[in-house]
Amino acid sequence: MLRIGDLQLRTNLLLAPIAGYCDLAFRTICREWGGVGLACTDLLSPQGLLRGTATSLDLARTNDFDKPVGMQLYGSDPDIMAQGAHWAVEHGASVVDINMGCPVDKVTKKDGGSKLLTDLPRAAKIVERVSRELERLGPSPTTGSPVPLTAKIRLCWHTADFLEGRACSPGLACMLADAGVKAVTVHGRTTEDKFAGTVRLEGIARVVESVAGRIPVIGNGDVRSPHDAERMLRLTGCSGVMIGRGALATPWIFRDVWWHLGHVGLAPTDGPPTPRPAPPDEAHVLACLRRFFDLMREYRDDRYAVFQINRRVSWFARSLQRELPNGKLESIKPFKEAVRTAGTPSQVYDALDRFAAGELRGGVDSPDPAGAL
Ligand SMILES: Cc1cc2nc3c(=O)[nH]c(=O)nc-3n(C[C@H](O)[C@H](O)[C@H](O)COP(=O)(O)O)c2cc1C
Repeated sequence: MLRIGDLQLRTNLLLAPIAGYCDLAFRTICREWGGVGLACTDLLSPQGLLRGTATSLDLARTNDFDKPVGMQLYGSDPDIMAQGAHWAVEHGASVVDINMGCPVDKVTKKDGGSKLLTDLPRAAKIVERVSRELERLGPSPTTGSPVPLTAKIRLCWHTADFLEGRACSPGLACMLADAGVKAVTVHGRTTEDKFAGTVRLEGIARVVESVAGRIPVIGNGDVRSPHDAERMLRLTGCSGVMIGRGALATPWIFRDVWWHLGHVGLAPTDGPPTPRPAPPDEAHVLACLRRFFDLMREYRDDRYAVFQINRRVSWFARSLQRELPNGKLESIKPFKEAVRTAGTPSQVYDALDRFAAGELRGGVDSPDPAGAL
């Protein structure tokens, strides 16, 4: 079972940070379906946290149910990162994670995210400094040990380096372990890949081989089904699997993966075999969507909740489409349009109620923007 430092996780499945998506409301619904061992906040600016800007505080919001939770920091200044880590621990982080994988210009131009893959001494310095701060803060009440530090990396910056066997990630993971990280997550793409192509499992396997069991390696990339997770574990030898985009459409994926891993002997099971969890029916998916919306209103505000549900309904809608007697999928375009264009909570609830009553179906489906991420 996956252990990060002295933090024992209930499963070896992690919800990935996805900026703009994996907020407290979303983490909560994933956890409610079950199977989540650790969930992470989206990337946080330590300066924003220290200044107490509303956006940073909203992004870092957590509660007792949202545990264990990783708080992910990005940046390049070791002292500021250490102060950010201090803040994170004081505000409920079970794990502090350093972002070394973000390919977005806004982050890399300031030498953070995956730019650190090109400046390994700086990456190590950040980890040493943050690690020292976490030690200085002393034991956490949950584990009796300092809050563990992790890092999320990519294979390397340039794809040619990877293809020619010069990826920095195998050496970097060892260097980070020496400097104090207790686990490393590897997204199996290069920075140049961004999110294109398919995940390079052999790159993750090289990192696993290189750290040789000193710290757990968590594999990440393109896991959208229980079989993908099994493949990731078997082909890379990694200790845990982090899932991002797969959870946006099916927040119950962790439950399903965990059952599957138990079934194929890759996860411990209690007692006699249990039946495969049934896929949620329409009523369950609608209830999940409604709960997500309610939680966003509770944790943030109506404006945020309406904005998010407008842009995210298509992800959930994929699971709401029923198969017609002719084998085709029923179009639910009117429902998606109604939620996408809703401007108030009551318009959202009205669309959900009408759909539950059998309305807002039919018509021709247009290409789904949910494929965009
Ligand atoms: C829109 C978007 C935002 C992301 N934001 C973050 C982030 O804040 N921090 C991070 O470490 N990774 C971030 N990622 C990368 C994901 O955590 C993950 O590594 C990537 O999506 C691959 O995993 P998946 O195929 O399971 O989604 C982001 C990815 C996307 C598509």
